[in-house]
Amino acid sequence: MSRREPGTLPERTRSALLAAARAVRSHAHAPYSRFTVGAAVLDDAGRIHAGCNVENASYGLTVCAERNAVAAAVAAGAKSIRAAAIVTRLRRPPATPCGACRQVLAELAGDDVPILLAGPTGGAREERLGALLPQAFRLRCLSSWEP
Ligand code: THU
Repeated sequence: MSRREPGTLPERTRSALLAAARAVRSHAHAPYSRFTVGAAVLDDAGRIHAGCNVENASYGLTVCAERNAVAAAVAAGAKSIRAAAIVTRLRRPPATPCGACRQVLAELAGDDVPILLAGPTGGAREERLGALLPQAFRLRCLSSWEP
């Protein structure tokens, strides 16, 4: 096996995550913004779960692709997320996840988890969740709560 930095993804996993995010993006329900997003997450059991954005006529009820992918993972029994891919129409630079989705990813993913950001074709930019959301609010913050 080739050597790689800790936390970086094997090429096969990278391709599978990107392919899943690109495939699910075609199911996005985005008649208002026309900005379709596909997301895929790799869970602790090595499974990939996908989600797309689902907009609503009551705009504020729109749910982002990343949050739908995390919900699909949890519903399938995932306990943690090891990597994620997010695909939009933007390639250079690729779109980054919104703040709410960064926080939702941080519920199941650690700071070193790779997040792949990509357009419809070509390679991906790899970021770490901790770089996208430094000092995330986490479960451990609640356990150190003092009245
Ligand atoms: N959107 C996502 O799905 N993920 C993000 O991280 C940012 C925004 C969606 C929400 C909405 O349907 C469309 O993109 C435009 O904001």
